[in-house]
Amino acid sequence: MRAYYEQGKERDRLAGPKGALELERTKEILQRRMPPAPAAVADIGGGPGRYALWLAGLGYTVHHRDLMDLHVDQLRAFAHPSIQTAAGDARHLDLSDSSVDAVLLLGPLYHLTERPDRIQALAEARRIVRADGPVFVAAISRWAPRLDGVLQERLYEDNPDFLPLLPEVERTGKLPPVVPNGFVGYTHRPGDLADELSEAGLQLDDLVGVEGLPLAATDMLSRSGDTTAWNVLLDAARAVERVPELLGLSPHLLATATATPG
Ligand SMILES: C[S@@+](CC[C@H](N)C(=O)[O-])C[C@H]1O[C@@H](n2cnc3c(N)ncnc32)[C@H](O)[C@@H]1O
Repeated sequence: MRAYYEQGKERDRLAGPKGALELERTKEILQRRMPPAPAAVADIGGGPGRYALWLAGLGYTVHHRDLMDLHVDQLRAFAHPSIQTAAGDARHLDLSDSSVDAVLLLGPLYHLTERPDRIQALAEARRIVRADGPVFVAAISRWAPRLDGVLQERLYEDNPDFLPLLPEVERTGKLPPVVPNGFVGYTHRPGDLADELSEAGLQLDDLVGVEGLPLAATDMLSRSGDTTAWNVLLDAARAVERVPELLGLSPHLLATATATPG
């Protein structure tokens, strides 16, 4: 994972048309439950800080943590007065109990391949959030490697080993690096994400697919320059976001949870 992120590609990941859909949909889903600014938000696994900068711009105070020094440095370069950033592991946070009003965990679960590690990261989010504060948790869908990586991105053209790996990836959720310097990943079935939240003492309030149908994104480039086509795409993602049978089709899942009382 470190070799993958050391390449520095994460900074521009959300800037392309595909990333723009993930970014716009994620922002609108967060805003449904985000406490009003000025509130304190922990952005754990916040990468180079796209969401931290957005939130700070809206008046929030942001505590950003990421495993990668590179990402911390990239965000620190903005020197935003409302953002405090440091290297940190989602499983062992240096933030106090009940010290923030909301937590973003949009990335660590993509990489924690062992269930106890994912539960620990979720339990840390629960520990640092104030009572009733939302914890937003992103996951990669179990079927994203096939529907996004294979069907849409055709990654097998550069890596013929990818296709035979798919059944095992879909059985275990564990995704080995599929391109040179690729990352080790973990993919969730919607029900498994709900179970892990529950085990960590979090009550699932909402679970949605972020992008909707990945195949709608094949002509993303032309859609992103056409307001009507872009809005049709956003509307489609919204319309199917909670349809249980379709949840796993979306490349990313986003759960909103609160600490289970007691
Ligand atoms: C795909 S990026 C997502 C970045 C950003 N949250 C976003 O949604 O665009 C995943 C991020 O999680 C970070 N990460 C992975 N495992 C982590 C862990 N155990 N603790 C903290 N950060 C972690 C990675 O360094 C990376 O920056």
